[in-house]
Amino acid sequence: MTKSLNAIAQKLMEPGKGILAADESEGTIGKRFAKINLPNTLDLRRDYREMLFGASEAMRNYISGVILTEETLKQEAADGTPFRAILADTDCVPGIKVDRGAFPMPGEGGEKITEGLDGLRQRLAHYAELGAGFAKWRAVITINDIAPTRNNIRANAHALARYAMLCQEAGIVPIVEPEVVGDGEPGNHSMERCAQVTGDVLENVFKELRLAGVDLAGMLLKPNMILPGINSRERPGFEDVARRTVDVLREHVPAAVPGIAFLSGGQTDEEATAHLSAMNRIPNKPWPLTFSYGRALQNVALRTWAGRRENFAAARQAFAHRAHMNSLAALGEWSNERDRAAA
Ligand code: G3H
Repeated sequence: MTKSLNAIAQKLMEPGKGILAADESEGTIGKRFAKINLPNTLDLRRDYREMLFGASEAMRNYISGVILTEETLKQEAADGTPFRAILADTDCVPGIKVDRGAFPMPGEGGEKITEGLDGLRQRLAHYAELGAGFAKWRAVITINDIAPTRNNIRANAHALARYAMLCQEAGIVPIVEPEVVGDGEPGNHSMERCAQVTGDVLENVFKELRLAGVDLAGMLLKPNMILPGINSRERPGFEDVARRTVDVLREHVPAAVPGIAFLSGGQTDEEATAHLSAMNRIPNKPWPLTFSYGRALQNVALRTWAGRRENFAAARQAFAHRAHMNSLAALGEWSNERDRAAA
């Protein structure tokens, strides 16, 4: 079991590839659609995912795995081909978001706790039967004057560890995602505060993972990068962000973890790519680093698609470009010039 979990994790971290996070809940995809004046219907959600997964060359060359919702895992393209078959064709591992979302925690900090542990063992067995090779659980850590509290960090870390253990029991690789949110309100914290909170969170997460008996070689970590809050005036350079992020990870993430795949967390597409590439130019890291982006891979493709099947080809081209740039970043080979030339 350990060997196969590690084999899946290694496959997800194949050099030059990364993960497409297409697991927006019904509520979240509804917000994305609303921004381009589209209603949130089952058919449009299907069309949108069909557009992405049908970008065959990009999927085959740059994407190792896709995080899906339960709806999409079981869904078919308009011609009746199951999405799982489309992903298998391009050798992408299907993954599944298994948390039920982040809900308000009692207290005044506006903090959140992720729910979804009840019945998770049964759900995971079902997802494994459907072919899911990995899963995702996102913990949300808020930064403000009060938050994060010790209680919130511990509760989220504990839930992540229980989730990870259940995944491994089901033969599914857990992606452990403790997101220290940078694009929430008030969002005026410094980069240093992000570094300190992220370090603290990671320390607690790995403590709980060990306590629960999670095999670190059979999981992946999906962290935030070290950035100032979205409303901060600080403007660190790409190299500063890269160095600070790698420093924090080195200090708190055991070398046994087979890979780290970042979330984009509201960065612009180019920032997310540039930061990843800069990190990959830093030598002697104990783990490979890649992307597990949602918005930073999809923004342009979503707008280009605009709800119309006749835009599939153009939208797929936009997606392929972004995926290619992030593939270069995963190898430390991206540059602004190459981005512009390829576009
Ligand atoms: O859980 C977060 C998503 O999987 C990644 O989304 O890259 O848009 O932050 P993002």
